[in-house]
Amino acid sequence: MFTIKKILLDFMEEAAGVTSFPVLSWQFATEKKNFRQSAFQIQAAEKVDFTQLIYDSGEMAGKDSNGIKPHVKLQSGRRYYVRVRAAAEGKWCPWSEPVSFLTGNIAENWQGKFISAETPADKDNSKGTYLRKEIQLDKAVEQAVIYTTALGLYQFFINGQRIGREELAPGWTAYQKRLSYQTYEVTEYLKNGRNELRAHMGAGWYKGMLTFHHVRNLYGEQTAFFGQLHVRYTDGTEEVFATDESWLGADSPVLFAEIYGGETYDAGKAEPEAGMWHKVQCVDYPLNNLQPQTASPIRVAGEIPVQKMLVTPKGERVLDFGQNMSGWVTFKVRGAKGTQVKLHCFEVLDKDGNVYLENLREAKETLTYIKGSDAEEVFTPHFTYQGFQYAWLEDWPEDAQADDFTAQVLHSDMPQTGSFACSEKLINQLQHNILWGLKGNFLDVPTDCPQRDERLGWTGDAEIFSSTANFLVNTHAFYQKWLGDLVAEQADNGAVPHVVPDVLTPVASPEMIEHMGMDGASGWADAATIVPWNLYLATGDTAILRCQYDSMKKWVSFMDARMDEQGRFNYKMQFGDWLALDGDGKTPLGATPTPFTCSVYHLVSLEIVARSAKILGYLQEAAAFNQKLEKLLRRFRANYLPEGELTVKTQSAYAMVLAYKLAPADVRPKLAKELADMLEEDGHLVTGFMGTPCLCQALSENGQTAAAWKLLEREEFPGWLYPVKQGATTIWEHWDGKRPDGSFCSPDMNSFNHYAYGAIGDWLYRYGAGLDYDEREPGYKLINFHPQPGGSLHFAEACHETPYGKAAIKWERSGREITVKMTVPPNAGARLTLPEGASVQAAEGLNFKNGTSQVFGSGEWEVRYLA
Ligand code: BGC
Repeated sequence: MFTIKKILLDFMEEAAGVTSFPVLSWQFATEKKNFRQSAFQIQAAEKVDFTQLIYDSGEMAGKDSNGIKPHVKLQSGRRYYVRVRAAAEGKWCPWSEPVSFLTGNIAENWQGKFISAETPADKDNSKGTYLRKEIQLDKAVEQAVIYTTALGLYQFFINGQRIGREELAPGWTAYQKRLSYQTYEVTEYLKNGRNELRAHMGAGWYKGMLTFHHVRNLYGEQTAFFGQLHVRYTDGTEEVFATDESWLGADSPVLFAEIYGGETYDAGKAEPEAGMWHKVQCVDYPLNNLQPQTASPIRVAGEIPVQKMLVTPKGERVLDFGQNMSGWVTFKVRGAKGTQVKLHCFEVLDKDGNVYLENLREAKETLTYIKGSDAEEVFTPHFTYQGFQYAWLEDWPEDAQADDFTAQVLHSDMPQTGSFACSEKLINQLQHNILWGLKGNFLDVPTDCPQRDERLGWTGDAEIFSSTANFLVNTHAFYQKWLGDLVAEQADNGAVPHVVPDVLTPVASPEMIEHMGMDGASGWADAATIVPWNLYLATGDTAILRCQYDSMKKWVSFMDARMDEQGRFNYKMQFGDWLALDGDGKTPLGATPTPFTCSVYHLVSLEIVARSAKILGYLQEAAAFNQKLEKLLRRFRANYLPEGELTVKTQSAYAMVLAYKLAPADVRPKLAKELADMLEEDGHLVTGFMGTPCLCQALSENGQTAAAWKLLEREEFPGWLYPVKQGATTIWEHWDGKRPDGSFCSPDMNSFNHYAYGAIGDWLYRYGAGLDYDEREPGYKLINFHPQPGGSLHFAEACHETPYGKAAIKWERSGREITVKMTVPPNAGARLTLPEGASVQAAEGLNFKNGTSQVFGSGEWEVRYLA
């Protein structure tokens, strides 16, 4: 007996606004081991009872249950239902429960105009405004769908009811080229007669102050709203209501709101009086820039109550939420009408336990609220977000209670797909911190930090963390969208900017661009190749490779064109092994020379492009890329590995050469031993952004597992567990963000919520627990179990929701004996590779006679061996 228990649409659990039939993946529930599908059938219909089909695949022979894309013509703004059944060993299962998706404006028949309640005179203003219109509906409504978006940020209401749960919509894209629109089914919000449509607008990334250069109006000077409501009546007719000059505008009670700056709200001004509504202005914006947002909008993803209310030695009243996060504080407040209250969000208390705001730099992170009545009022911010664990009640009535305040956690809505646990509490906290580092920085754009006047889509940070992120949450829609922006921002010559969306180039001086460059940094710009590649490995989605292929090639050819005589990529300012501890201390650059790190990344990207070309069937191109790769690898080895001797003697150089498999296989164990010795000698890691993610993998893959565990388990500075011991709840930007004596490193650049060093997560899951994908059958069609028990742990386990369902592993040690329990989802397979020298004691249903590796199918498996 087997059934289909879940269907994913475009690898996600929800899909609204899609413009082509989603890619389907389905998961089975069955007790049967080694389950393999042999055939399937897909149906799609506009009615949930599937009476009138718009698509029927018929019974199709096929083993795949992931990545199936039906080619069906769809109409705009419709809800479609999909169901699947499948066969195995000649038997068909019942039809799955239907899932549905809502289409976006496929026809792109945009009729609306962008309208603004502001005028150009408001350009220096970050106030909130309302836009409204009353419409009349005289016939019974069959279905109503609205497409909405804004230049700035917006919330949308029908008859006073909020539509959707999105926050900070429409999110942040390369607005000059792409703007996400949201699609909502709003039938139930409309009534016969008059209906009010209303948007609330804020400045956001579009026109508020942004970047550490503190510039505003980066994309425009007036916020503007766009909406297009399609109403289908039961009599078959359709009516469209679109934003135009007939709407009215007014100021809202939001007196000020900016991403970094916080929000000021005057509840006394809650509803504009009749006479305050004025005409709106139309704002030009190219409608063909509109892109549907189909999943993973920013939402309130959780609430955290105050853990502690304290008074600092300086007398400041402080709320401690116990967790560093991105979001805002929502609160109840009492006091007479007109009372003004004010709180500041911040990350850490200083050495003496007082409020510490310096590392926020110019970001104000302040909420100010003016009471509109004498009664208790409740406030939730609209158009800002804060990075914080604490809030300082700078100006607040004496009667404030802990339960007046709640922190609402904001991030892109991505279901959690991965978990890790082990017998060591500090490592479990590290895992928690990695996950919260992600939550704190995945707000429509993968940002470097959520608190200071920065919060930018630094490509390097995104690149090194992407494989870890793919394990932890379902990143598909999130990365797909961001990669679209990367393509939009990539220069014609292939250069990828340091940050995406690129808000640094437009404000850089010509001299800066000439001498430093705002793009083309190795390891950063390689996000163009590495992020899509990692997504492909995690999901098996070839469409993401197809979509990014040109961009990948362009980036590689940018590097090709800037090689020096020795075949090294050489271009303007490079960040290299950023923040490594082996530098001269004068700059954030480490000791590993950038020509070396550039060459490494050039090879890494070239290899990804070569492999992608092959997967996509561009065989000639693949052959040409492979040829080039061989040539460059030969030259790299001649330059840096003469006779198997690594000439760059830094930890990062060793780690990178090994993790990226650039050294000949026969010298890798020797190099890994040298790396392990070097770590012993130095006593700790000294690596930065580039070397750190490679370290443990380099050791584990080459016979130095013990050194990898030792490195991980170090509790002193510098190491992953040092911040944990200091009470961190997220990953820090610097190993010594806070020093043992409680002092901080320079406030110029000291974020306590910076996911980059969380890239160790990749090693924890793939080697620490041993749950890995396999490039030969990506998307976990073949799960690569290769646990490497070690350190002081007596067990470790990891679990990941793959496109096939749950995959899991747990190893447990008792003396010399290790038991490995594994779960393989139906219609997937697995390979278990035990550490060298393992002597298998029991392995029901498996045959380990010939070595330590074994392939098997779905189900629960257990293997016992002596280490
Ligand atoms: C960011 C980093 C980033 C770096 C590059 C910093 O300000 O926070 O994480 O990659 O700049 O220069």
